Order: sequence, then C-alpha cells, then structure tokens
Amino acid sequence: MPTTRKPILAANWKMNKGPAETEDFLKSFLQKLQEKKNFPCEIVIAPPFVSLAKAAEMLSASNAPVQLAAQNASQYDAGAYTGETTMLMLKEFFVHYVILGHSERRAIYGESDEVINAKLKKAREAHLKPIFCIGETLAEREGGKLEEVLGRQITVGLDGLGEKDMLDTVIAYEPVWAIGTGVTATTEQAQQAHAFVRGLVAKMFGKEVAEKVRIQYGGSVKPANAAELMACPDIDGALVGGAALDPQSFFDLVKNACTVVEE
Ligand code: PGA
Repeated sequence: MPTTRKPILAANWKMNKGPAETEDFLKSFLQKLQEKKNFPCEIVIAPPFVSLAKAAEMLSASNAPVQLAAQNASQYDAGAYTGETTMLMLKEFFVHYVILGHSERRAIYGESDEVINAKLKKAREAHLKPIFCIGETLAEREGGKLEEVLGRQITVGLDGLGEKDMLDTVIAYEPVWAIGTGVTATTEQAQQAHAFVRGLVAKMFGKEVAEKVRIQYGGSVKPANAAELMACPDIDGALVGGAALDPQSFFDLVKNACTVVEE
C-alpha cells in the first residue's frame, strides 16, 4: 500500500457489546494504545448504536487516536420509520464513519444496490464518511461472476456521487465466503479484486481520484495475516469482525498492520 493513502483499520463489532462491554473493551484497548507513540494508520471502532454514547464519552475524554463509526443508518431524513436511525442523529455522537452495504445488511435485510446508493448519498449530505462494503458470494465467484457482481455493486452503489464524496468514501472489499468463516482470500485473490475495483473507480471518477481512494479488505483478517494483506499494493486497511472483539487481538492486528507502513 503506497504511503499516499493512509491505511484504515476498522473494527466492526456487529451485534456484540452493549455499553458495559464497550467500556471494558475501551479501557483495555486505550491503555494498550499508549504503548505506542504514533500510529501511521487510522483506527476506527464501530459499536452497536446503543454503545455509541459510551464510546464517544470515553474517546473524547482520552484523546485517543480512534474514530467512531456506526454500522448502518437510514436513507431517510426523519419520520415514520420504526427502528431506524438517521445520519444526522449519528453526528450527535461524534460519529465520523458509517458502514453501509455490509453483506449481512444485503443478505439478511434485503438492502439493494439502489438502497445502499441512497444511503451513501444521505451519509455525504450529513458529512459522514461511508465505509462502503462490496463483495461476491462463493457461488458468484465460482460461477465466473466476480467482475460482474463487483461492477454492479460499484456502479450502482456509487452512482451520482461527486469527486469529493468519493474521496471521503472508503471501499471495503469483503468476499462473502471469507466473512466469519476463518477462510481468508489469498493475498493474490484480494489484490486482484482490489486492483479491479480501483479500475472501476477510475472509470467513474478518474485515475487521480481512484489513486487516492482507500480500499480495505475484510473477511477473517487476524493479527497473523494482517501484515501480508496490507503489503499488497492496492490494500489500504482492513475491516475486521471476529478478531476485533478482543482488545488484545485488535491491538495486535493494528500493530502488525502498521509494521508494513513503517517499513
Ligand atoms: P470477520 O468479519 O472479520 O469476522 O470475517 C468481517 C466483516 O464482516 O466485516
């Protein structure tokens, strides 16, 4: 990963850790962060909505180099949408990023590329930075549809965004078959997909923008494989589920990933 793109390591806790567990995690994680003076990468944590207030309070009190993300938000401004949360509400919790289009949202909650596109636009209106997830299923990859699927997800998902919006968007390539399975894409598979995605971004927004956009890899990233993934030229960070639930594990992962940038 070239030094022109600041790597971004994000913890996606999914439906884990209420406020009490968030407090426990952060107490330990923030303490560990003090072992190291500088982090040449961005560190992001995405707790469930109900834990954002606790996380925001602890992060602002500690001045830690950690940004907050939400795991989802609505494409609407306000109104009769029971159970939903708006982008602007997230701003009140000092949230900077919002994960959109995660494969679990696509598969379990039926979010289409069009819905995800509307969410991306709404996030940008609120000046939130989207972490926009894409990725193919195993059947799609084995059926030779990798490029078609990523092509559709990117062109529909990013449709109508301006250059500045694109520069403030992080793409997370997460092959669905690698999420939570312990099976990581090989560095070759990951690099190939990332280069393809960057090419798609170049077609839509120009080469200069594409060279600046960060593309994270996600899917069974662990402390042990973070550095080799990060060493690939088009991989600019990781979106981490399971290995980010334990403070020691996420800290080790961040530290190992950073060694590549520091070299
Ligand atoms: P995993 O999840 O690291 O547990 O595979 C990644 C993700 O879903 O973002």
